[in-house]
Amino acid sequence: MSRIYLSPPDISKQDRSAIDSAFDSGWVAPVGPDLDAFEAEVAKRVNRSYACAVNSGTSALHLALLALDIKPGDKVICPSLTFAGCAFPISYCGAEPVFVDSETETWNMDPGLLQKALETLADEGSKPKAVIVVQIYGQCAKMDEIIALCKAHQIPLIEDAAESLGASYKGKPAGSFGDLSFLSFNGNKIITTSGGGMLLGNDQALIEKARYFSQQAREPVLHYEHKAIGYNYRLSNLLAALGRSQITDLDRRIAVRKEHFQTYAESLGKLPGISFMPISDDGSPNYWLSCLIVDDSQTKVTRDNLIDICDQASIEVRPTWKPLHLQTVFQAKQKFGGAISEDLFNHGLCLPSGSSLTHQERDKVISILTSALS
Ligand SMILES: Cc1ncc(COP(=O)(O)O)c(C=O)c1O
Repeated sequence: MSRIYLSPPDISKQDRSAIDSAFDSGWVAPVGPDLDAFEAEVAKRVNRSYACAVNSGTSALHLALLALDIKPGDKVICPSLTFAGCAFPISYCGAEPVFVDSETETWNMDPGLLQKALETLADEGSKPKAVIVVQIYGQCAKMDEIIALCKAHQIPLIEDAAESLGASYKGKPAGSFGDLSFLSFNGNKIITTSGGGMLLGNDQALIEKARYFSQQAREPVLHYEHKAIGYNYRLSNLLAALGRSQITDLDRRIAVRKEHFQTYAESLGKLPGISFMPISDDGSPNYWLSCLIVDDSQTKVTRDNLIDICDQASIEVRPTWKPLHLQTVFQAKQKFGGAISEDLFNHGLCLPSGSSLTHQERDKVISILTSALS
């Protein structure tokens, strides 16, 4: 059996022929009918009116911040337990990230700490210019509380649904929240365009502003006229064709990942010292990654021992996200709380969860972990 990966791309024959058809159509790049259709299909799926497909989730977030006029010195709140691509674009704008810790029920941004951050920053005379909420590991945050706080403080909300296409919160799809939202189609995500992302919203002017920046800030004239600094962020028509084919398989992929989670939780979750990411009654995750917590006061091996044991068995597992407030590059930044995300990082383990993971491979993961923990 070859190495078992965490969440590799799942590419079908249908996906290959979708790319072939895009080649045959002559629309390779930059734009084309598949790009327009992909934007419309994803927007429909997440209940948004407008969309701009780009080359990564990170660039989608950068465009969101540019569309909201985030300027050097502005403060932008984001959760600490997330991937750095959620905070780097704040720095691209010359703005300052402010990190907020997680709660324990969904592992997402703690609304109580967000409130504290908003009140403290207001008292300091530095009201943040935006809040970014992340739907981590495919599960939505406590959106009602977070939306209410942003409304009360009149601060735009950006939803980072990079990991969460197909998830929902109180019946509403991930990607439908906030002034702007974005997705990632990176190779490890639930659907992929090999690399890609999409910015979504209901305010046409904001999306068109983002589209303008994504296309080198070209003025609508025949010659090349630029009045602002632009970026080359658009997704190609060819990759959009891949995305269109991938999204037709989204519901199957969610079902497969959910079955992985349930099988892991039923088998490994009964071992002493092992617990799984809690699933809130408020939502329906897409189960992007199955994550467990190792309480090493009850186990004879640590989380890091398990990583080594899996590696020797050719299984890729990873620690949960290292909190951004602990990253060298962000160490000096303002933060609210931190103990929860630090604890999750120190004890959390992400298991192979891809939609192409076979039952035989999953059984191997369970058996290696069970014998290490028993
Ligand atoms: C939570 C989160 N935000 C942002 C990103 C950035 O997306 P991309 O890799 O497409 O730039 C990722 C993942 O890669 C992510 O997991």
